[in-house]
Amino acid sequence: MSRKRIGVLISGRGSNLQALIEACNARDFPADIVLVISNVPQAQGLLRAETAHIPTRTINHKDFPLREAFDACLDAALNEAGVELVCNAGFMRLHGQTFVARWRDRHLNIHPSLLPAFKGLDAHARVLEAGVRISGCTVHFVRSEMDSGPIVAQAAVPVLNGDTEASLAARVLEAEHRLYPHTLRLVASGAVSVEGERVVGLAGEQDQAPLFSPPLP
Ligand code: GRF
Repeated sequence: MSRKRIGVLISGRGSNLQALIEACNARDFPADIVLVISNVPQAQGLLRAETAHIPTRTINHKDFPLREAFDACLDAALNEAGVELVCNAGFMRLHGQTFVARWRDRHLNIHPSLLPAFKGLDAHARVLEAGVRISGCTVHFVRSEMDSGPIVAQAAVPVLNGDTEASLAARVLEAEHRLYPHTLRLVASGAVSVEGERVVGLAGEQDQAPLFSPPLP
C-alpha cells in the first residue's frame, strides 16, 4: 500500500509533531510527513522538522489581512507538496469554511480534552475548575466550528488530587503522543471513514476495562 502524504500544521513546541515524525520512521507506518507549516516564525516545531529533514514553510498569518487569503496560501503550499492528509498539531488558528470544505475528512486535529467537553483554549484549567475526575485527549476530523467534528479516537487519563494545570497537561500530553500516531495510522491506512458525521470502521478488540478515578479499592 502506498504511504499517505501528510502535511502537519503547527504554531509552537511541536511535541505532537515529534510523535508523528517518530511514528512515520517505522517501515510499516502508512504515512510520511512531506511538509510542516508553521504560522509562527520561531516555532520550536520547525527545528524538529528540520532535524528530521522534513521540508518546512513559515506562513505567518500576520502577513495576511484576511483569513481567506491566509488559508488560500496554506492550501496552495499543501497542494504543491502533494499533501493528501492534513494534521493540525498545536495549530492555533481557526480555518475558514473554504479551507475546511477543501480538506473535509482529510484533516485531523488533536485537542487536550475529552470532546465535546472543554473545547477551546485553557482546557486543563477549566477541567480543574469543573472538578471532573477524568480528562484526556481527542483526535477528530476538522469542521468549521472550533474543536468540533467526527471523533476518531480518544484517550482518558485520571485527574489527580493536587493536580495543577501543568501536571494535568503533562499527563494528557503523554497520552496525546500515543493517541495521535495511533489515530493517524487508522486514518492513513483507510481503516476508518465518516458516515453521517460519525467515524465508522473502528473494528477490533477493545479493552473493556473502565477507568475509575479515584481508583476502586
Ligand atoms: C497540545 O496539547 C494539543 O493538544 C493542543 O496544543 C498542544 C500542542 O502541543 N492542540 P505541541 O505543540 O504538540 O507540543
